[in-house]
Amino acid sequence: MKIKLSDKKIKDIKADCEIVFVVNKNLEHKFVCDEKILNEMNFKGVADEVLLLPEKKMYIGVDDLELESLRSSVALAIRNIAKSKIATLKIALYFIDDAGEAIKAMSEGFLLGIYNYQKYKTKQTKNNIKQIIISTENYYDKKIAIKKLTEKIKEAEIISKSVNFVRDIVNEPPSDLTPLKFSEIAKKEAKENNLTIKILGEKELEKLGMGAFLAVNRASAYPPRLIHLKYKSKNAKKKIAFVGKGLTYDTGGLSLKPSDGMLTMKMDMGGAGAILGVIIAVSRLKLPIEVHVIIGATENAIGKDAYKPDDVLKAMNGKTIEVKNTDAEGRLVLADCLCYAQKENFDYIIDIATLTGASMVALGEYTSAVMGFSNDLNHKILKSAKEAGELVGILPFNKYLSKLLKSEIADISNISASRYGGAITAGLFLGEFIEKKNKEKWAHIDIAGPAFKDKFWGVNPIGASGAGTRLLVELVKGVL
Ligand code: BES
Ligand code: ZN
Ligand code: ZN
Repeated sequence: MKIKLSDKKIKDIKADCEIVFVVNKNLEHKFVCDEKILNEMNFKGVADEVLLLPEKKMYIGVDDLELESLRSSVALAIRNIAKSKIATLKIALYFIDDAGEAIKAMSEGFLLGIYNYQKYKTKQTKNNIKQIIISTENYYDKKIAIKKLTEKIKEAEIISKSVNFVRDIVNEPPSDLTPLKFSEIAKKEAKENNLTIKILGEKELEKLGMGAFLAVNRASAYPPRLIHLKYKSKNAKKKIAFVGKGLTYDTGGLSLKPSDGMLTMKMDMGGAGAILGVIIAVSRLKLPIEVHVIIGATENAIGKDAYKPDDVLKAMNGKTIEVKNTDAEGRLVLADCLCYAQKENFDYIIDIATLTGASMVALGEYTSAVMGFSNDLNHKILKSAKEAGELVGILPFNKYLSKLLKSEIADISNISASRYGGAITAGLFLGEFIEKKNKEKWAHIDIAGPAFKDKFWGVNPIGASGAGTRLLVELVKGVL
């Protein structure tokens, strides 16, 4: 599917179908030429209203022309057209103040909206759309050349391709995407994208003293992998580490999840998937930065060798952890991976994980939770999310919640003594593994809500969304 620009008037462009936005119920807009029919069809133009006319025009109601409205309305349009025989589409450039950003948002809408995971279907449906033409007839600012606007399409293509790659690996069934397979995928991507890669197995993790990570892996039929990727631009201005929870499946361990809660837990490597997507995008965008991606990949299974509630584990930094619930396993894997990351100096250390159901109780199921000791970094992440079109809310730490992680027999307990504030106490647990000198450099993002949904929402399909990917690419751009 190719997206291109044309400076021709929209009516002079040949295409099978035209997408027309009706903005804020205004049927008098210059691109709305079927007012009478729309009235007859009782089309009002309220947000997300869709009407396909037989003469191949698709009308879509949108609330406003904010970038995220453009992105999700375009996605809604393409989703409605995808199954038809329509091969070419045209749409006018709608924008408020930044035509380049509008083109990027619209292109992302097309490329993310068309995504459909079909790998395991024996009969796959084809999408017939070959070409999308965006008419710049509305655009008068010749100071910015069309060439510059075309670059925005390229940027959208790189980012969307990465997001769709993340969706693919998160959607992959857990017995197919094992830690080993995950590391092989990372190896292939490293080769194709100029990244260096180091993969650590059980022996190496033992040598490093990663007792928490290894305990989670113990009952799994598949050995663990720590995957460390690096991208370094020649003129790197900053050095940033992304650490991801890569639970290829989370049964809950001996604190077994009920069937309903276990279903979809193949998504528990969503954080790891997202940062693999981020480093690929950053490399393709050739951003002047050094990025490290550290993935802790394992399954949380049950078996005779399973780690138990009441066990005490020792993490890489020597801290001891009392296990009170084996389903709070992500923080154990991340604790060791965060210790590993801190062997080097970074300007920023960001971890991302499908860590707690409690984050959804706090913020709703579409919003990621951000936590950390630096207000400034939390707000940087908030800003990047807004620019990327992702939903994020900051959850505040406090010293009273910290106390709930006390253990009688070890340095810390892996769950809180209270059922309130579970997303925050998980974040505080991770904070215990951040060295003093790094406290202000670290932030934690809990994507348990938006990583995987059983319905369409915005630009996202049913299943994996690739949450966190666009947000972190934007963050990388933001810290330069
Ligand atoms: N992977 C889950 C969190 C999760 C839940 C992600 C729902 C996506 C959707 C995590 O390992 C977990 O089980 N957390 C527990 C923590 C509890 C035992 C303190 C939870 O959220 O219930
Ligand atoms: Zn769990
Ligand atoms: Zn988990």
